[in-house]
Amino acid sequence: MSKPLKVMTVFGTRPEAIKMAPIILRMHEDKNFEPITVVTAQHREMLDQVLKIFKITPDYDLNVMKPNQKLDELTARVVTGLTTIISQVNPDIVLVHGDTTTTFTAALACFYNQVPIGHVEAGLRTWDKYSPFPEEMNRQMTDVLADFYFAPTELSKRNLLREHHAATNIFVTGNTAIDALQETVKTDYKHDVLNQIKPGNRVILLTMHRRENLGQPMTNVFQAVKEVVEQHNNVEVIYPVHLSPNVQKVAQRVLGHVDCVHLVEPLDVLDFHNLAAKSDFIMTDSGGVQEEAPSLNKPVLVLRDETERPEGVTAGTLKLIGTDKNNVKKAMIELLTNTDLYSRMAEAKNPYGDGHAAKYILSDIRQYFSEIEKHSGNAERKI
Ligand code: UD1
Ligand code: UDP
Repeated sequence: MSKPLKVMTVFGTRPEAIKMAPIILRMHEDKNFEPITVVTAQHREMLDQVLKIFKITPDYDLNVMKPNQKLDELTARVVTGLTTIISQVNPDIVLVHGDTTTTFTAALACFYNQVPIGHVEAGLRTWDKYSPFPEEMNRQMTDVLADFYFAPTELSKRNLLREHHAATNIFVTGNTAIDALQETVKTDYKHDVLNQIKPGNRVILLTMHRRENLGQPMTNVFQAVKEVVEQHNNVEVIYPVHLSPNVQKVAQRVLGHVDCVHLVEPLDVLDFHNLAAKSDFIMTDSGGVQEEAPSLNKPVLVLRDETERPEGVTAGTLKLIGTDKNNVKKAMIELLTNTDLYSRMAEAKNPYGDGHAAKYILSDIRQYFSEIEKHSGNAERKI
């Protein structure tokens, strides 16, 4: 191709940054691309942790985060800020990732400015408008606006076809989360919190942050965790608490004074991946963690009633247990005591790709634009 493709990536939260990083790093090594990195900083500290680990310096930073931010205000700040940047940069394509408010609002700003949109991690669905909220509609609306779909699995491709998106523009690539894991996990890893674990004890890694779990569901789960560790003297829990004030409050209130629960700050991704690799199993309502665990051979108890990642359930790694206190306790005790169940879940095969998703995504983009250039005599790259 004659000129490098100007590919603008836009992201704002921790998970988007972790999964966009492999694409950005790869573009920086490839002269066919001119990468422009834009962060909304919907998350400030948790985003900066990821940028630091992957040594990514954004070209533009909208710095939109406010304490306890509301979705309407966040939406307005991103659309307005991004519109100015798009008109300055004039990218060939903008890549957005996943299902956050940054994802959807960045896609909306691109649409208003008639810039092609590539959606990385497209096609995940629960088909339930309010679960997860607002992520299900964020990803559906992003897919309505997008031009290119980088679907992590065949199932996500089928979801997109069901919505009549053009098959020619859907590419099955695997999930870039698996690419990121290859950079982070080390066998000789050490961390202070691991030194606090009594030798021989079982270790559970816990994360919880979803908006629909705030309040009573979260309290129920934390109560269950508290009761299980108090009734079993060989179990400890490491819980890096999300910075959302609504999560911090409940975590401190219910688990703050429980001896065998280690509440820590959000971990950087290197620490998190390594602690996940060293844990016995994981309890989470996170999306990204559900994708990473099968690659690390770790069973996951999913603290939700449904998931847009059913591949992990089918593979056997994930078990949906919801947030009812007694169900959570029962599932924890079963996994702690039933070695057959544990082995079955731990040995399941990773369904989220071969760790080369970023390479496939960039090759698909390049090929598409080369074809356009061939047919249009380099006149106009827009779709
Ligand atoms: C957001 C996404 C959710 C994603 C999650 C990943 C939306 C609406 N939600 O949820 O889809 O799964 O990120 O973690 O897009 N905060 C800080 N520092 C940080 C990050 C957050 O102080 O680095 C606090 C702020 O007070 C902020 C609040 O957490 O207002 C909530 O952040 P927000 O991005 O609105 O929602 P999350 O629950 O993090
Ligand atoms: N993660 C991290 N530090 C933590 C907890 C999670 O780096 O303390 C990583 C995790 O490995 C995964 C991503 O953050 O890659 C998931 O982010 P989160 O759970 O915040 O969002 P979701 O995936 O639910 O949108």
